[in-house]
Amino acid sequence: MRHLLEIDDLTPGELEHLCELALAPPESLGAPLAGRGVACVFTKPSARTRNSTEMAVVQLGGHPVYITNDEVGIDTRESAEDVGRTLACYHATICARVHDHRVLERMAALDLVPVVNLLSDAGHPLQAIADVITIRAELGSVKDRVVAYVGDANNVARSLALAVGYLGGEMRITSPPGYGFSATDADRLAAAGVPLVVAERPEDALRAADVVYTDTWTSMGQEAEREQRLRAFEGFSVDERLMGLAPAAIFLHCLPAHRGEEVAASVIDGGRSRVWPQAANRLASIRAVLAWLHQGS
Ligand code: CP
Ligand code: NVA
Repeated sequence: MRHLLEIDDLTPGELEHLCELALAPPESLGAPLAGRGVACVFTKPSARTRNSTEMAVVQLGGHPVYITNDEVGIDTRESAEDVGRTLACYHATICARVHDHRVLERMAALDLVPVVNLLSDAGHPLQAIADVITIRAELGSVKDRVVAYVGDANNVARSLALAVGYLGGEMRITSPPGYGFSATDADRLAAAGVPLVVAERPEDALRAADVVYTDTWTSMGQEAEREQRLRAFEGFSVDERLMGLAPAAIFLHCLPAHRGEEVAASVIDGGRSRVWPQAANRLASIRAVLAWLHQGS
């Protein structure tokens, strides 16, 4: 039984294989989910992840069921384990977006059906797969490319660092004091064989970068910290001046974006932005993962 809670649940070779599957014509993947359901559990809002997941299930011949936490009440109405056992009675896979990553781990530990992380406080692996597909499509390969991540060392950054490192790229990150990767994060990256370059200032991270990437300064669930974070991240906005330090770089952002905060409108809406192909690649990413999990099943 395989689960995808974070990129390091895969080997680098499996990530390569998922990229190939993602780039394959959808019809070549067949209908491995024919007559089967996929539970799509969301305890937080979503535009890209919900729509791409539901449409990927349809393209693979299955039926997605969108489920909010108001209905299933994870650990309030019943335990995460009982929610997992229930959904496994009807569905071939449980895909879930949760606040607490441990909920995914508890459902996966049942080993009843594959569990896929649709974003947790810890990681966002489907986003990272879409990101590396986008870099490959735009720049030819991830190998030896420099991805400069400016901002919060959050769920998106963790998965991105693993995916870029697995494919032979260099992840550089620059964050304000207190918002960088923890020692635990650094240990996990090291255990995965992924080198990480930490730069103190955005100016140092961006030189000769091939990709400039940022994400919101305030993730879902951190709203109470918004004012404090706005102050802490001053100087970390990706604007024309910073992009000028990486004259050949494309710009990526997982979205949703906050123009005037982590990115200037002129950058995200400008000629070097590839955020819409990146968003489109979310469909190829989840389709590849579901096809891989259900090949031959
Ligand atoms: N990037 C991403 O996961 O977007 P949503 O929150 O809209 O799904
Ligand atoms: N880091 C953001 C990503 C949203 C797709 C969050 O967790 O809210």
